[in-house]
Amino acid sequence: MDSNTITLTRFFLHEQQKFPEATGELTQLLASIQTAVKVISSAVRRAGITKLFGTVGEQNVQGEEVKKLDVLANELFINLLKSSYTVALLISEENETIMEVETDKKGKYIVAFDPLDGSSNIDCLVSIGSIFAIYKKPDNTFPTIDEALMSGKHVVAAGYALYGSATMLVISSGSGVHGFMLDATIGEFVLTDQNMTIPKRGKIYSINEGYYHDWEDSIREYVDTKKDPAKGKPYGARYVGSMVSDVHRTIKYGGIFLYPATKAAPKGKLRLLYECVPMAFIVTQAGGLASNGKIPILDIVPTNHHQRTPIFLGSEEDVKEVQDIIAKHEKCSCVSK
Ligand code: AHG
Ligand code: MN
Ligand code: MN
Repeated sequence: MDSNTITLTRFFLHEQQKFPEATGELTQLLASIQTAVKVISSAVRRAGITKLFGTVGEQNVQGEEVKKLDVLANELFINLLKSSYTVALLISEENETIMEVETDKKGKYIVAFDPLDGSSNIDCLVSIGSIFAIYKKPDNTFPTIDEALMSGKHVVAAGYALYGSATMLVISSGSGVHGFMLDATIGEFVLTDQNMTIPKRGKIYSINEGYYHDWEDSIREYVDTKKDPAKGKPYGARYVGSMVSDVHRTIKYGGIFLYPATKAAPKGKLRLLYECVPMAFIVTQAGGLASNGKIPILDIVPTNHHQRTPIFLGSEEDVKEVQDIIAKHEKCSCVSK
């Protein structure tokens, strides 16, 4: 037992000292998210025993079947964020409308979150996660509902929880990316991976190949080159189907995660505010790139809080490679018009 364990709260209290103007509210907000994640982690690991698998028999705003754990995770995030006295607006994948915190509990932050990511993997015990991004107005005033939609440039912190072989929180507040593993024996997240950085190039590509015939030609060309020995050593293919798992592996090992537009999802499937922006913030802080194929994810100005976007994220050289192929096809199609 280390008598000087760096817990998540201790780490961010230390980070806070670097900013004289800091009020401690962000640390307070992260502490409430940490509590939500601890309860979700316990519920996920006991879901089979406590009959929390399966669906509630409804569809959410995304038109997806709602799992019992989706509901529990969503309620936990909402209750703990509201009672942190630091949040003005909540944007949840599971709620059709943007939620306004009651005045006496209001704070200056906007939190967009995916309470349970990879829900289709719950019942077969494959890793799932939670994802969040914390936005703030430049002037630190409390945002109104019609000020809720901000680009990733207004993110002050973002993170994800991975409920895998261990439960891990990976967070960035703008000064690098740091990983904390849950030590269930003391009920604390402890610092295990300080300053996580993504390799400049990897050897793994991660995409759902089931949609191969639905992709644009450029994506098919990119994936074909990753398999073609004539184009260099073929990459390995890995796809979990939970964004948190696929992104975490990409940060740890390098490579690229792709969820492009398909005929069925012409704007892509993944949601900008609470899946793509938080992951883009983290990957960028870790030295990687995150793009919609043309511009950085963090530059996209949202028009709807549930809008979707194609996303290509990971090692700098790998993302640049797919962007170059997309640009080449764009140029050819312009010329042929
Ligand atoms: P969610 O469970 O929050 O709806 O997210 C699922 C997402 C994401 O986790 C994953 O990358 C993607 O769905 C997988 O989609 P496909 O099954 O179409 O590959
Ligand atoms: Mn998700
Ligand atoms: Mn979800």
